[in-house]
Amino acid sequence: MQTLLAEKLTEQSSITTDNYAFLQRYIYQESGIVIDAGKNYLLESRLLPIVKQENLSTLNDLCSLLRATAPLPLKSRVVESMTTNETLFFRDLALFDALQKIILPELVSSKRDTRRINIWSAAASSGQEAYSIAMILHEMKLEGWRVQIMGTDLNQKILDRAAAGRYLQIEVNRGLPAKYLVKHFTRAGLDWQINDNLRSMVSFQRFDLRSSMRSLGPFDLVLCRNVLIYFDVETKKKILGELRTTITSKGLLALGAAETTINLDPTYGRVVHGSASFYQVP
Ligand SMILES: C[S@@+](CC[C@H](N)C(=O)[O-])C[C@H]1O[C@@H](n2cnc3c(N)ncnc32)[C@H](O)[C@@H]1O
Repeated sequence: MQTLLAEKLTEQSSITTDNYAFLQRYIYQESGIVIDAGKNYLLESRLLPIVKQENLSTLNDLCSLLRATAPLPLKSRVVESMTTNETLFFRDLALFDALQKIILPELVSSKRDTRRINIWSAAASSGQEAYSIAMILHEMKLEGWRVQIMGTDLNQKILDRAAAGRYLQIEVNRGLPAKYLVKHFTRAGLDWQINDNLRSMVSFQRFDLRSSMRSLGPFDLVLCRNVLIYFDVETKKKILGELRTTITSKGLLALGAAETTINLDPTYGRVVHGSASFYQVP
């Protein structure tokens, strides 16, 4: 019985070299995400559920459908399945510490005249980053200010979750200080619902980071974290160049701990606070 099951799984997942290359090209074209050679396990774990849902037999069948007349929702599901949406509240404590103690207080004091703050959480995933920023700004009692935090992502499904602002117990257990859970969330069955006053500070919309950003911004601060790692050098350079056009002079870009502008875009300056780095537009 077990042998049969194993044979069935191997049959479903074995993919021809040609189809592997097709999926690499397809995913790159639709998202910019680079799938290296030998990542069969990744394709299998992400795409076999779709093979099953579509009543197909193998990954090769899915490729045939994508090559031919796959309906748009199926195409989107394939691309969305290949995005990695790992995130958590206050991800990277050094960075959030600098935001809370230095960057955001300085920003608020520099904006006393206009009382407007614009922040972009690019690659927002399920929204924890955008809401973490909202929680910090909420503490700063900015009554009468126009504070806008925009969260964007390529994956519409994950954005719907972000906009709903409803989180599992396991998600609020990751990184969210207890005082913020008590203050900003309400129990909803087994989940936690973020309160409307915080939700109203944040809006979410689909945006592919490879698109022109000319119509976006200007932003005082952009967080584009833990997404450049999935792209090739050419795509990273293009995105960093576009991001620069959306950020105000002296405004800051925050990247993931494993990401940098160094060797990609020399225009950005580097601002270091403790072990957190920010990239500044001249
Ligand atoms: C690992 S999450 C990062 C979430 C959050 N910024 C953080 O650091 O915790 C990466 C996100 O990038 C999104 N993504 C991947 N390719 C994208 C693209 N071309 N345009 C916009 N978002 C993209 C994925 O859907 C995913 O939600």
